[in-house]
Amino acid sequence: ATVKRELIERLTSEEPFHHRKVSIIGTGSAGMACAISILLKGLSDELAFVNLDEGKLKGETVDLQHGSPFMKMPNIVCSKDYLVTANPNLVIITAGARQEKGEMCLNLVQRNVAIFKLMISSVVQHSPLCKLIIVSNPVDILSAFPKNRVIGSGCNLDTVRFQFFIGQKLGIHSESCRGWILREHGDSSVPVWSRVNIAGVLLKDLNSDTGTDKDPEQWKNVHKEVIASAYEIIKIKSSTSWTIGLSVADLTESILKNLRRTHPVSTIIKGLYGINEEKGITNLIKIKLTPEEEAHMKKSAKTLWEIQKELEP
Ligand code: 2OP
Repeated sequence: ATVKRELIERLTSEEPFHHRKVSIIGTGSAGMACAISILLKGLSDELAFVNLDEGKLKGETVDLQHGSPFMKMPNIVCSKDYLVTANPNLVIITAGARQEKGEMCLNLVQRNVAIFKLMISSVVQHSPLCKLIIVSNPVDILSAFPKNRVIGSGCNLDTVRFQFFIGQKLGIHSESCRGWILREHGDSSVPVWSRVNIAGVLLKDLNSDTGTDKDPEQWKNVHKEVIASAYEIIKIKSSTSWTIGLSVADLTESILKNLRRTHPVSTIIKGLYGINEEKGITNLIKIKLTPEEEAHMKKSAKTLWEIQKELEP
């Protein structure tokens, strides 16, 4: 008799229960921040990790597994083989070349497109119908890669940073600072100043120059801080992780629980805001923009398209 047999008497067979599996590709700082944020929200019963660096993969997995007394039903597995990711409710892609200090996000494109071709085909081979959240940069371009069921974390991160800096300036909790950043995640992102509001009070109604060069209070600097954030953090700690992890967990919650919330994510939007260079169909909330904001959107789209059209299919 084993200790287990002595200790546990089986009364009935267990009912199979509904699994929620999330597969995370990449166990760098962003991947692990996504993992811990998802685990602590109790969003998944099974997490599967893949990483090419086997040492890092095992180390991060075992380190998390040891924390299982604090998690709700987690089964944490890992492998270099993508088979481990099969049958997920969601796949989160965080792997890829990382932005170096001072490097522009869009600069990563050539390195990451090559990595992505291999990675996405390996994921899809085992989970042809999976939903994907793309986190790796440049997120807006890489999210257009496989054409279905893919969203890029996009400006979700820029938007929470925007809310944070507005909150800091006003002394109000960032969640109550409503305002979105759209288009490219990063340098050419577009702050929709015409809609920024607290409790429904539009900042533009209080100061019609909000967000413009004429504004004596220079609210525009809030957006500059958003753009500078990633560069500053990368300079200090090599990569950003916690806010992207938390914001991806927030997206994960919306998807897995089908909450029907709205998020500023990357998807394919040919035809809206005069943007015609991309292909595909999706459902969107059509945010009304001022002519200046719309022009800014087009400029950002052009920046991305200039890069995208040079890529090999
Ligand atoms: C960020 O903005 C680097 O895209 C990453 O935090």
